[in-house]
Amino acid sequence: MVETINKLYETSHLLLHRTSRQDAAKGISVIVKGEGIRVFDQDGTCYIDLEAGGTRPVHAGYGRDELAQASYDQMCQMAYFTPMGFANAPAMQLADKLAEITPAGIERFTFECDGSEAVETAMKLAKHYHYYRGDQGRFKVVSRRGAYHGVNGIGVRALGIVMPMRQLMEPLAPGAVFIESPYCYRCPHNLRYPDCDIACARELERIIEFEGPEQISMFIGEPIQQGFGAYRPPPEYWPLIRDICDRYDILLVIDEVICGFGRTGLMFATQHFDVHPDLLTMAKGLTSGYIPLGAVGCSVRITEPIELLNHLHTYGNHPVSCAVALKNLEILETEKLIENSEEMGRYFLDGLKTLLHHPSVGEVRGTGLWLALDFTVDKKSRAPFPLENLMGIIARMKQKGILVKTMGMALELAPPLIINKDEIDEVIPVLDACITEEEKAMGLSK
Ligand SMILES: Cc1ncc(COP(=O)(O)O)c(C=O)c1O
Repeated sequence: MVETINKLYETSHLLLHRTSRQDAAKGISVIVKGEGIRVFDQDGTCYIDLEAGGTRPVHAGYGRDELAQASYDQMCQMAYFTPMGFANAPAMQLADKLAEITPAGIERFTFECDGSEAVETAMKLAKHYHYYRGDQGRFKVVSRRGAYHGVNGIGVRALGIVMPMRQLMEPLAPGAVFIESPYCYRCPHNLRYPDCDIACARELERIIEFEGPEQISMFIGEPIQQGFGAYRPPPEYWPLIRDICDRYDILLVIDEVICGFGRTGLMFATQHFDVHPDLLTMAKGLTSGYIPLGAVGCSVRITEPIELLNHLHTYGNHPVSCAVALKNLEILETEKLIENSEEMGRYFLDGLKTLLHHPSVGEVRGTGLWLALDFTVDKKSRAPFPLENLMGIIARMKQKGILVKTMGMALELAPPLIINKDEIDEVIPVLDACITEEEKAMGLSK
């Protein structure tokens, strides 16, 4: 069967994203159908999708006729018109809806095609804000080592992770500045919380002073970070970052591209913390992946000085994507999927905790339906776990009909928000068995 699949890929004109020749040689599945939390490949093999589409947008699950209908209706009514000098009804309605559900103070919205463009636009908005206030030297962006904020022009400079992706594209736009990420399990400063005094946040002030505050436009970070596997910072982290940004007139951009729309059990992960962002980037769960759409929200403080947002994108404020997003938000609300994320997230986390007896499972964590198992070859020293063995666990899971992926040294789990207890109960024993098999192969257990 692998041969057939390989042949299919080798004879196809399609280029895959971030797929090595080596991985392609192992066999590429062609996903042809989705239903609930399951997807089916070209041979009819069914998989439980614990990654909500791999890049985790599919919050409402697969096979939603309502979303297809919303797109069809809007295409028939008015498929496209320029975002420059004209508005359209779905984009206006979606902006109103987001003003209702985003954290307090976020009141103006514009729509792009995806998360990377949302990040780009946030950077542009930040630059515009400073520029129109006569502060024209601020071009630097502070991000975090281990962060991921997309693949486009300026955004790629804020990439602190996926080094080959960044290094291959160098030299990048100037102005990328990095601090460490909050990752207490393997603290980059080699400290222990709470004695650390949140050194990873305080580092921001030192780097601002070093780089020159008058050159720094914004700080960007995910409220809960993907880079090391769904890592939630200590409660003091975001208020400290906010305070430092305020003291230097640096804008705070919170990237909710993954976390937003219920992934972490609240509508936005920012709401887990005592912090108010200046700008918010969104995508993925906004349309459950049924159609591309990214969004930036900001406070009126940001738009107030801006005479003209010098930005035009053919597909900006796209009416069809916005109509699908509106229907998707309706589904999230009427089916109480945010609440389900919180409840099932707790249930899933309890299940994962039963795996802590494994010598290789160092930590399990999760907020809502964004969960991770962090692996190590030595629980005491928290020594790194080889990537090939993580990939081994993933391959075993796939063979048994479950799709998961890695983030850092962790296995990340981010299922559609419709998952139920029975489905979670189905997953835990398979995960248990696959970890045991891999540990045996490594000689970590008998
Ligand atoms: C936090 C974050 N920001 C931005 C992006 C870029 O979004 P997209 O892939 O839709 O361009 C991603 C993608 O995974 C992301 O996780």
